[in-house]
Amino acid sequence: MEEKINKYINDITNISNSNESDVGSIKDRYLGKKGILSQLLSEFKTLSGEQKKKNGKLLNKFKMLVNDKLKINDSTEKTNKKKSSNIDFSLPSTFENNGSIHPLSILKHKIIQIFEKVGFEISSGPEIEDDWHNFSALNMPHNHPARDMQDTFFININPDVLLRTHTSSVQIRYMESNNPPMRIISPGRVYRNEDISARANCFFHQIEGLYIDENVSFADLKKIIIYFLQNLFGEKVKTRFRPSFFPFTEPSAEVDIYWGLNNESDYRITKGTGWLEIMGCGMIDPNVLDNVNIDSKKYSGYAFGLGIERIAMLLYQIDDLRLFFENDVRFLRQFKSLN
Ligand code: PHE
Repeated sequence: MEEKINKYINDITNISNSNESDVGSIKDRYLGKKGILSQLLSEFKTLSGEQKKKNGKLLNKFKMLVNDKLKINDSTEKTNKKKSSNIDFSLPSTFENNGSIHPLSILKHKIIQIFEKVGFEISSGPEIEDDWHNFSALNMPHNHPARDMQDTFFININPDVLLRTHTSSVQIRYMESNNPPMRIISPGRVYRNEDISARANCFFHQIEGLYIDENVSFADLKKIIIYFLQNLFGEKVKTRFRPSFFPFTEPSAEVDIYWGLNNESDYRITKGTGWLEIMGCGMIDPNVLDNVNIDSKKYSGYAFGLGIERIAMLLYQIDDLRLFFENDVRFLRQFKSLN
């Protein structure tokens, strides 16, 4: 065996780096499954103790030589590769197509932040609701004509189950399981059975707010709404509160901002008035408080609600609501800088 190993040692030292550049073939020949090294090792196993001592050292020497040889050849191969790849490092890098946050999410987070600053907490609830939380508890008993204000998707097999038409349902759930004082906003997706057009969709996103404590007044409501609109549209925004009707608030109002009449599109979106309706609000009807077992003699509160798409359309000058839901990257890419 000694002789054999010496012969192989001789062979491997004589392989020149230049004429044996094929690392793969050396690897196979010496280190492969049935290669020289593995053959020698199995032979080595059969040797007696005395013989093992003698041949072990030699075998180690051989192993190291093979490894050394492979290392040298490996690196020559790498340098050769580098030389031939011809990379031009002065070229501009390849375009990375990173995603961006959806404009509705950007706006939602902005609105949440404005309310969080003044102590509102986020509350969420299910999109599939029952009649009580979406309608009855909100002062809209069965057959109440106000139910027609929101065309509803009912689940046919059970008319008590429906897709929520507003996130006021979340407020009912919150009031049922918490005690005043409470101050929450509930952002979320809502559904209405409407024909899809540039102005309407069968689902959209709302943020509704609620504040209940002792002695809450309409002045408190006005203050928070004006604070919110100034933060979103700028300090100088002109607002007005217009009397309106919602079954769950009394008195109720709709809030408009002055958009101006500077160009043709301003005339179109404000219907020639310069004013734009932004949100609904009002003082919570005592009937609603009674429905959720909050003492309406002791507590009062306000609620407000707005559609995120509507505000996004104004802020980002988008005149077709459907663009938000098509996820065309050419549209979405335009909001990258706002991320
Ligand atoms: N829930 C109403 C809607 O969806 C909005 C609203 C909320 C109005 C709270 C008044 C008070 O239209």
